[in-house]
Amino acid sequence: TNRTFTMIKPDAVKNGHIGAILEKITASGFNIVAMKYTQLSKRDAEQFYAIHSERPFFGELVEFMTSGPIVAAILEKDNAVDDFRTLIGATNPEEAAEGTIRKLFATSIGENAVHGSDSDENAAIEGSFHFSGREIF
Ligand code: GTP
Ligand code: MG
Repeated sequence: TNRTFTMIKPDAVKNGHIGAILEKITASGFNIVAMKYTQLSKRDAEQFYAIHSERPFFGELVEFMTSGPIVAAILEKDNAVDDFRTLIGATNPEEAAEGTIRKLFATSIGENAVHGSDSDENAAIEGSFHFSGREIF
């Protein structure tokens, strides 16, 4: 479809990058159709990242994602999921291409500034995890 889901993660919020990241997102042709400033509970983060529950970094990931507020948003654009993954860059900022959001704003593979859905199916699941129908415009 033409939608993806993103979070500006606690590191980028703490480092003052909300405005710059949103600017990059909209300048790249994404329309914000839903957005909120919120904080994940431990239960939220465990559910959101359940697919990674067997990975060695799962505890660290949950700890980090609950460590402060985030910005959650649903974005609309043709080819949204793939184009947004390109815009954010590789998971590890050291491997992220020049000009990508993670290259510019991430500090490490764990604290990597933004989330982007990895499939249309997950974009829909993750969007409805955070937003009800009447919060999407
Ligand atoms: P997301 O958009 O956040 O899903 O990132 P991704 O799709 O690029 O990576 P992936 O889904 O494989 O991993 C999810 C998140 O787990 C990453 O964004 C990191 O925050 C974290 N993560 C992945 N690998 C590591 C690791 O080796 N160490 C730590 N501490 N965190 C990791
Ligand atoms: Mg992922």
